[in-house]
Amino acid sequence: MSQPDTTEHSSYHIRTFGCQMNVHDSEHIAGVLESHGYHKATDIDSADVIIFNTCCVRQSAEDRVWGNLGAVRKGGSRVLAVCGCMAQRHGLGIIERSGGVDLVFGMEALGRLGDLIETARSAPVCDLGVVEEAAIDGLPAVRSSRAQAWVPISHGCDNNCSYCVVPRVRGPERSRSEQDVLEEIGRLAADGVLEVILLGQNVNSYGRDLGAAHSFAKLLEKIAQIDGIKRVKFETSHPGDLSDEVLDVMATCPPVCEYLHLPVQSGSDRILSLMNRRYDRDFYMQTAQRARDKVDGLTLTTDIIVGFPTETEEDFLSTLDLVERVGFDAAYMFIYSHRQGTAAASMRGEVSRQVIGGRFARLADLQARLTAASLARVTGERAEVLIEGPSRRGGLVSGRTRGHRVVLMEHPGPSMPLVEVHIDSAGKHSLRGTILREYD
Ligand code: 5AD
Ligand code: SF4
Repeated sequence: MSQPDTTEHSSYHIRTFGCQMNVHDSEHIAGVLESHGYHKATDIDSADVIIFNTCCVRQSAEDRVWGNLGAVRKGGSRVLAVCGCMAQRHGLGIIERSGGVDLVFGMEALGRLGDLIETARSAPVCDLGVVEEAAIDGLPAVRSSRAQAWVPISHGCDNNCSYCVVPRVRGPERSRSEQDVLEEIGRLAADGVLEVILLGQNVNSYGRDLGAAHSFAKLLEKIAQIDGIKRVKFETSHPGDLSDEVLDVMATCPPVCEYLHLPVQSGSDRILSLMNRRYDRDFYMQTAQRARDKVDGLTLTTDIIVGFPTETEEDFLSTLDLVERVGFDAAYMFIYSHRQGTAAASMRGEVSRQVIGGRFARLADLQARLTAASLARVTGERAEVLIEGPSRRGGLVSGRTRGHRVVLMEHPGPSMPLVEVHIDSAGKHSLRGTILREYD
C-alpha cells in the first residue's frame, strides 16, 4: 500500500549543525526560500524541501549528519538538500554515498537556490558556487530573534592551524567592507535590534585584506556608536591577533560587552607549536591577564583540544595547569578528531582512545569546578540580561548577561527584551534570576 502524501507543497525545514556562522547562514537560507514563496513547515515530516546545513570540523559532527540523512523519509516530490561545510568538503560525493540526497549546494550558490530545487526535482544536482562570490550577506534573512542579530564581518580563515579543516572548506579570509557592515547594523538597529554578535573565524584579523586603514578595533568603535545598539559581542578571537586597541575599545565603549572567547587549544608549548597556533603558553597567559586587567568584570572563555597527536601526560598536565591558572569562566572541550587533508592528519603518535577518555574526564572535572566558582562569584549581584527566548526548562525564559552567561527567569511578558535581573542562584552551567525592571 502506498503512503498518503502529507507533504505541504512549498514548505521547508532546515536542520542546522555546527557553529554560529552556520546558524546565521540558515537564517539566509530561510530568507531566500521565503522570497521564493516557501513557508516554514510545521515539522520535518511535512516539509517539501528539507535542508541540512552541516558541519565537518570533527568526525562526530559528520557522523551525526550521515545518521540523520539516512533517517529522512523520501517520497513524492520532496527534495532533500545538503549545504554547509560537508557540502563544501565532499561535494558530489554526498549524493553518491547517501543514496537519497537530491541537491548539494554551497553558500556561494545560495542566490540560485530556488532554481536548484526545481532542477533537483528531476535529477540530482551539485552546485558549490565560487568562493569569491561571497554574496550571501546581501541576501534576505529570516532572523530568529527580534532583539538580537548575528552579523558576519569576515568569511573564511587565513590561519593554518594544523588540525583544522575550516580554511579548506570556507576558503581564505575575506573581510566585508566596513560600509557594508555598518549599514547592515544600522538597518538592524532601526528594526529594533539591541544586540549584535559579530562573527568571523578570526575577528581580530578583520580588515587585513582591506588595507592598512582598517582594523577590528576601529570597526568595533564605529559599531558601538550606532544609535540603538546597546550591546556588541564578537567571536572568535585568535590570541595571536588580539590587539591592545581592541581591549581598549572593550574597556571604554559602553556597548561593547565584557566577553572574550579566546581559544587556547593546549597549554603545552610543544603541542601549540605542532598545532601551528603562533603563540606559546606564556604569551597566552599574559594576553589573558592583559585582557582581565583592562576590561573590568571580563568573562573569559576558551576552546581546548584533548589528545592531539603525540600529546604526552606531561603536555596534558601543562594544559591542566594553564586552565587552572587562567581560571576560565567556561570552556568548550573537544577530543582531537583526525581530519583528512589537514597537516595533523599525517602526524604520527596517535593517542589511544582510553588515554584520551581519561584526560578528557580530568579536564572536564577541573573546568566544572572553575565554571561553578565563576557562576558563584556573580550570585547575589545585579546583571543586565537580554532575553533570548523560552528555555528548554518549562515555563522559564532564557537570556544572557553582558558576559554571555546564561540566566533562566520567570516569563516577564512579551515586550521586555532588556532587563535588570537579580542573580539568585547558580546551577552547573547557568544562573537563576529574578527580573527587577526593564531598561528604558
Ligand atoms: N579536532 C577537535 N577539535 C577541533 N576543533 C577544530 N578542529 C578540530 C579537530 N580536528 C575545535 C577547536 C576550535 C573549535 C571550533 O573546534 O577547538 O576552536
Ligand atoms: Fe581553524 Fe585555526 Fe582558522 Fe580557527 S583560526 S578556523 S582553528 S584554522
